[in-house]
Amino acid sequence: MSQPEHNISFVDAPGDTVRVVQLTDTHLCKSHGGTLLGMDTDHSLQAVIDLVKKERAGVDLLLGTGDLSNNGAREAYDRLEGYFAQFPCASFWLPGNHDLREQMEAAATTSNRLCKEIRTSNWQVLLLDSQVPGEVGGELGEQELALLQRALQSARDDGLHTLVCLHHQPVTIACTWLDQQMVADAAPFFALLDQYAGVKGVLWGHVHQECEQHHGDIRLMASPSTCVQFAPNCEKFKADDLPPGYRWLDLHSDGTIESAISRVWDVKFTVELDSGGY
Ligand SMILES: [Fe+2]
Repeated sequence: MSQPEHNISFVDAPGDTVRVVQLTDTHLCKSHGGTLLGMDTDHSLQAVIDLVKKERAGVDLLLGTGDLSNNGAREAYDRLEGYFAQFPCASFWLPGNHDLREQMEAAATTSNRLCKEIRTSNWQVLLLDSQVPGEVGGELGEQELALLQRALQSARDDGLHTLVCLHHQPVTIACTWLDQQMVADAAPFFALLDQYAGVKGVLWGHVHQECEQHHGDIRLMASPSTCVQFAPNCEKFKADDLPPGYRWLDLHSDGTIESAISRVWDVKFTVELDSGGY
């Protein structure tokens, strides 16, 4: 039986189903009320959290899937701790291209905030690091792929279903400018996943839009940012006027995943739609 060489966090989900909420690309600035393309990212995150509280009772697991700060400021992660603390459940972060891992670790109020593997009685949730320091695009690299293989083998040994999370998209999504930033080593990533029938889903952020695809039986999911949205099917950068949102996932004990996104429709947000980039 193989043993993973990383720490595992165990999360107690009282029901048969693990109720997950993903908050992604919160882009918190150094100061409270800082903006991205004119949008106050503290205000939009709180609006999304208020929506989650209204819609999703009894969340078991809260995931922050990267670009949690806009520029790696310690102050942004300190505030993020406060936002996530509004939920009484276990919560975890993984880094995106806008993040600084050492600042995230410094701000973390629990030692396992950036752990790589979470387990419940039926599920393994992996939090991979696709960040390449100083680069916008993503890559897992040999170390993360090796960790992935060890973790998947151990999940197979223990009879667990797996949800793999990372920041960058491992597939193209029909946005030319974003497709250039996809995970560079997506081919070996999927080659590994294909060896393990227990892998049920892959979840990411980065693209600031809803997206669903399949890779064989594996469900592939991207989610809206809690702030500015990017328009789908674009060659160049284009912001979208859709409101901020989040994704929920119910991980059932038989390995099926129920999931959808939800958006804040009843609050007015500002966004500079004519901007050529961010
Ligand atoms: Fe982002």
